[in-house]
Amino acid sequence: MNTQEILEKQKKYLWPNHLLYYTEPMPLDHGDGLYVWDTDNNKYLDFFAGILTTSVGHNHPKVTERVREQVGKLIHSSTLYPNENHVNLAEKIAEIAPGDLQTSYFTNSGTEADETAVILAKAYTGRQEVIALRHGYSGRSAIGMSLTGQAPWRIGGTQYPGIKHALNPYCYRCPLKLTYPECGVACAEDIEDLIRTTTSGQIAAFIAEPIQGVGGFITPPKEYFKIATDIVRRYGGLFICDEVQTGFGRTGDKWFGIEHWDVEPDIMTMAKGIANGLPMGNTITTEAIAQGIVDKGATISTFGGNPVSTAAALATIEVMEEEANPAHIAQVGARLREGLDQFKDKYPLIGDVRGMGLMQGVELVKDRQTKEPAPQEVVFLFEETRRRGLLIGKGGLYGNTIRIAPPLTATNAHVDEALAILDHALAAVHELS
Ligand SMILES: Cc1ncc(COP(=O)(O)O)c(C=O)c1O
Repeated sequence: MNTQEILEKQKKYLWPNHLLYYTEPMPLDHGDGLYVWDTDNNKYLDFFAGILTTSVGHNHPKVTERVREQVGKLIHSSTLYPNENHVNLAEKIAEIAPGDLQTSYFTNSGTEADETAVILAKAYTGRQEVIALRHGYSGRSAIGMSLTGQAPWRIGGTQYPGIKHALNPYCYRCPLKLTYPECGVACAEDIEDLIRTTTSGQIAAFIAEPIQGVGGFITPPKEYFKIATDIVRRYGGLFICDEVQTGFGRTGDKWFGIEHWDVEPDIMTMAKGIANGLPMGNTITTEAIAQGIVDKGATISTFGGNPVSTAAALATIEVMEEEANPAHIAQVGARLREGLDQFKDKYPLIGDVRGMGLMQGVELVKDRQTKEPAPQEVVFLFEETRRRGLLIGKGGLYGNTIRIAPPLTATNAHVDEALAILDHALAAVHELS
C-alpha cells in the first residue's frame, strides 16, 4: 500500500481523535536499530523510540530471534497456566528492582499497570482515596484518566471518585511562584495540606512519576520524593511509583528512575520499554503487600505474562546488560544534555532544558522573561526536524516541550547526528519566529 492509501483508510476507518504527529502524518514501514523508514522510503534517526518504548532499537536481532522462537513454540497460554518465560521475567525484574520489590503482576500496558497498582493499594489498605500529581499522566482507562493531571487527556471529562491532585514539582513554572532551593520544596510539603483539607485523612496511595513524561519531562528537585513519601506514609498511604517512562535504565546510572531520589516505592509500575515494543505492563510490589491481599479475591489476565511478550522482555533486558546498561545510558545522555545546554545559550527560544539520561526535555517559550509558551514553534520544529531526517517527541500541558528519548542503544555518534540536525532545525525556526 502506498502512503496515500494508508492515510485515506486511516481517515475512513479509525477514530478521528487519534493524535497523529506532523502536518502530513507519516506511516512508518520498517526499522533497523536507531533508524526507521517511512512508506516513501525516507530514512529517519529515531529520537523518540515509539514513545520511549523501543529500548534496544528497532528489530534488534536478539529480540527478534527470541520472539520468532517463542512464536513457533507457544503463542498464548493465559495466566491460568504457569509458564517458564513468565516466572523467569518476574525473577529478573525482582533482581533489578529497588528495595523489597519482588512480586510481579503482568498485564498489557502502562494503563493497566497503573490501574492494577491502585486496585492493589486500595485492597491492601482498605481505603479508597488516592493522591496524584497535576501534569501527571497515568493512561486512558477511567482510573487512568482520572489520575491524569491534564485536562486534554480526560476524554469526555471522565472522573473516577476519590482522586485528588497535588501541586507538581515544576520548578521552571513553580505552582507556588517560588524559587528552588529557597522554596524548601514547599510543593511537596503542600501534600499534607491537601490530605488534611480535601480527603478523609485516610489515603490509600500517592502515585507519581519520577520524571513526568507526558507532562514534558518535568524533573523534581532531589529532596522532593523523600518529603512527599514521608507525608504520605504518615497518613497510612502507599507510594506507587510510575516507572512507565523512566524505567529500564532510561534515566541513566540506575535501572529505575526513583533510585536517583533514594526512596523505595511500595508498588512500582512499568511498561513501554520493558519488551522493546511488544505489549506489556507490570505492577511489582513487596511480598508483604502481595500476601496482604490473597484473601481479597482472585485475579486473572488473559494476555498478561504472555509467553511471546515475556520472551521479548527477557531478551530486551539481556541486550541492555550487554549493550546499553545504565552506565552507558548516563554517558551518552550526558553528551546529549551538554549539546542541548549549548543550544540554550544559542537560541532564546529555549526556556528550559531538563531531564536525566536519555530522557531530555526542551521547553520552548516566546519570551524568556514572561515564559509565554511557544507551541506553534514546536510545530515548526517538528516539520524542520522531519525534513532533515530526525524524529522527536513533544509533550507538556502547554504543548511547548520537545521530548528527546532515543533507543537506549544510542551511541555518541547517533547523539552527534541528532544534535547537528536539531541545531539546523532550531536555527530555521528561529528565523521564522
Ligand atoms: C507515566 C505513564 N504512565 C502510564 C501510561 C499509560 O501507558 P499505556 O499507553 O501503555 O497504556 C503512560 C503512557 O504514556 C505513561 O507515560
